[in-house]
Amino acid sequence: MWISFAGIITNYKDVKQFLVQKGHKFRSDTDTEIIAKLIKHIHGLHPNYSFRELVEQVIQQLEGAFALCFKSMHFPGEVVATRRGSPLLVGIKTKTKLATDHIPILYSKDSPEKVELKEHSKLKDTQSDHRPHGHEIPAHGLARSQSTSEFLPQGDNKEVEYFFASDASAIIEHTDRVIYLLDDDVASVEKEGVLKIHRLKRTLEDTHAREITTLKMEIQQIMKGNFSSFMQKEIFEQPESVVTTMRGRINFDSETVVLGGIKDYIGEIRRCRRLLLIACGTSYNSAIATRQLLEELTELPVMVDLASDFLDRNTPIFRDDVCFFISQSGETADTLMALRYCKQRGALIVGITNTVGSSICRESHCGVHINAGPEIGVASTKAYTSQIISLVMFALMVSEDRISAQPRRSEIIQGLRNLPDQIKEVLELDSKIQEISKKVFEKKSLLVLGRGYNYATCLEGALKIKEITYMHSEGILAGELKHGPLALVDKGMPIIMICTRDNVFVKCMNALQQVTAREGRPILICHKNDQEPQKYGSSVLEVPKTVDCLQGILTVIPLQLVSYHVAVLKGCNVDCPRNLAKSVTVE
Ligand code: M6R
Repeated sequence: MWISFAGIITNYKDVKQFLVQKGHKFRSDTDTEIIAKLIKHIHGLHPNYSFRELVEQVIQQLEGAFALCFKSMHFPGEVVATRRGSPLLVGIKTKTKLATDHIPILYSKDSPEKVELKEHSKLKDTQSDHRPHGHEIPAHGLARSQSTSEFLPQGDNKEVEYFFASDASAIIEHTDRVIYLLDDDVASVEKEGVLKIHRLKRTLEDTHAREITTLKMEIQQIMKGNFSSFMQKEIFEQPESVVTTMRGRINFDSETVVLGGIKDYIGEIRRCRRLLLIACGTSYNSAIATRQLLEELTELPVMVDLASDFLDRNTPIFRDDVCFFISQSGETADTLMALRYCKQRGALIVGITNTVGSSICRESHCGVHINAGPEIGVASTKAYTSQIISLVMFALMVSEDRISAQPRRSEIIQGLRNLPDQIKEVLELDSKIQEISKKVFEKKSLLVLGRGYNYATCLEGALKIKEITYMHSEGILAGELKHGPLALVDKGMPIIMICTRDNVFVKCMNALQQVTAREGRPILICHKNDQEPQKYGSSVLEVPKTVDCLQGILTVIPLQLVSYHVAVLKGCNVDCPRNLAKSVTVE
């Protein structure tokens, strides 16, 4: 048995205990092994089941979030794949065009045996060899034969190749045609090379077919090119990725913003009770980065929540709430569950994602695709800056009808226009940042201080540093210094401080003086040619000035680069930091 597995099986101990009682021996303590032993066990009891039927039996016993792909010597030439809570797609490669762009769902008939097996969630066994659901029922209006014969290439060359992957970037070099599987879909490729998609039960929400989508991704977008890592490439792509986020949405001359994915909902959004921004990690930081502007331009109360904490609290949600779910992957389990929680309570669901066809995309009422291009490095960089821009564009669109907001809107739109060139300027600091990184990479800790719009930069910078350098780092709101963190400051504590000319500049200078009075010698990120803060810095990184609400985009890039260089100096795997995954599809 060959199994490719992503995710987590939460009841694996129960399953293992059951299988041990049945005499199975285990070589490891992994959840993957229990899946292999479980399918073997069911095959022993029901040798007449097809490969797909065995997998259907297995997944009915599993709890958790997973994407699974099976091959077996007992079923040569066949593959069965399924998902629940973790992304899974099927890439299709043919020489000629397929006869259809949809594949119908086949429903398997329920039987008492199957129900009994599920009800005994502790895996009580049945010795019956009745097929649990051997009878296939096609979806409404589709003849059984349509599901197979039409799903073949046109012409004489019937050759088809299938690719199973969690992410489209893994297969784009082979094919751009994919089917995104939904939870509990069971896709099987049988000997004759035909792909079938089964579901155990028909539900009202089912679309009864899965669409074949053509990816817009280019191969070069997922190649490293001259860069040493995807993260480095993605940092340096930001002058272009911010442009693609804005393309077709902002008219810089007429100063108008149209987000096609939400324009039909804008009236409802303007009338709502409050905006909730819910996300994890970097995506959460993008919500922190834009909260102040959203409050200012929408004049609505704005709540920002970490998805896991939001779920822990049973937060009250109302029908007139508008809930934003921000996620690069669109698959983060906590964010997705928070989305479902809010949807059930009748709120309007807005998805802000970078992955077309992702679960968050599909389950939202409306949304914005951030168009940052594929982000392969586990550390999120260009998605962060594009998320900020997407939320800023949203604020601009909602406030279009407010006369008093026009000067502010105009200033921001012109700020956005200049951003790509300013990002290029910041990227020119790269070699200076590499030198600074040499001074800190052997230290134990690195504090990042700032306030106002730069607070999100502190959180995001510290997250990047922790994530890929394994060094302790903390983003600290400068206003909180005297409530505890000041005790950490002495001449040995590495500190990066952000101090740009905005409405909290004076307060930041005050914090800077408190730090230097304790012999701290921070590395300063400040505006170009701004002498006043520079005299307090051990080193200075000068960034161009932009509108306050966009400044975080320019101040975060030096921190992305610090984390990158420190990780390289420490010999860490920049793209795949230990213990972390790109899509966190488990709770
Ligand atoms: O795909 P998402 O944006 O939902 O992911 C959320 C976090 O897991 C993610 O941003 C994580 O914090 C990043 N790897 C940090 O760089």
